[in-house]
Amino acid sequence: MPNDQLELPSYLHHTDEVKRRLSEIRERPTVMSLSGITRRFESAEGSVTALDTIDFEVRSREFISVIGPSGCGKSTLIRLVAGLDTPTAGEIWIDNQPVTGPGADRGMVFQGYTLFPWLSVKRNVMFGLRMKGISRSAAEKKALEWLDLVGLADFADHYPAQLSGGMKQRVAIARALANEPRILLMDEPFGALDAQTRCSMQSHLLKIWEAVDVTILFITHDLEEAIYLSDRIVVLGAHPGRVMEIIEVPVARARHPDQFLSGHFLATKKRLESLIYDPETHSKRGSERMSPVAA
Ligand SMILES: Nc1ncnc2c1ncn2[C@@H]1O[C@H](COP(=O)(O)OP(=O)(O)OP(=O)(O)O)[C@@H](O)[C@H]1O
Ligand SMILES: [Mg+2]
Repeated sequence: MPNDQLELPSYLHHTDEVKRRLSEIRERPTVMSLSGITRRFESAEGSVTALDTIDFEVRSREFISVIGPSGCGKSTLIRLVAGLDTPTAGEIWIDNQPVTGPGADRGMVFQGYTLFPWLSVKRNVMFGLRMKGISRSAAEKKALEWLDLVGLADFADHYPAQLSGGMKQRVAIARALANEPRILLMDEPFGALDAQTRCSMQSHLLKIWEAVDVTILFITHDLEEAIYLSDRIVVLGAHPGRVMEIIEVPVARARHPDQFLSGHFLATKKRLESLIYDPETHSKRGSERMSPVAA
């Protein structure tokens, strides 16, 4: 190895703390399972297999990310989990119930700002609660608690146009969590934010996740973001979208931005880069591939 290269630990090597945490996660009940998920789109130009036989399970309160190159089917996957689309083959189960459409057990936060511009921040968060038939005063109380959790209690009466991009996404997170979903589905939620805001949103999200009983399925194409946030990372390959590897992140919790330069962090990033950008790895991956289901 040339002397200007860092000697990194193996991304497969886990410290005792990480081993303990991951085995504790494996003991938990399964919240979501995807079994043989395939989605083909038919068009005049022919058939596109966006996803091909995707299998994995997610445990209670796990933070799992899905990464992969553009067009590998990440958004297709999360839309299927959300019940906004139907698989060509396979099944998705949430808490042992098959997904047949959208449901209150899944909350969603997407990249675009999806707040109602004509409603105040507080009323945006109250919206789903009111739809569920909760009284105005109870919904208001809950909304203020959630806004407090995302650090926006002082902005309850502001309108979305008066907020920064990061603040809007924090309201979107509060709005999704106010309905107390089992799973929070996030599709590149910080993709439109500048690097600094994105960093602080990642730390914010981890604090929120630690405080709330929720499982998170997070889509990103940012490798560092996936490592920093997740317990496990599902790496998808493109054309057709398929699981290439599921990585158990060997970085200790609680996470801290200093860890971006730790050996385990860099080793994981290097592995992800080789899976996503280096076609050579695709033919070699068999020997190091892990089971799609946490054993
Ligand atoms: N409604 C649709 N009709 C036809 N093809 C589609 C449709 N939706 C997605 N696709 C195709 O499926 C594949 C996966 O698309 P998808 O949007 O899920 O990718 P992605 O991983 O989210 O990409 P990005 O990182 O750019 O967001 C692409 O080839 C896309 O063109
Ligand atoms: Mg997408």
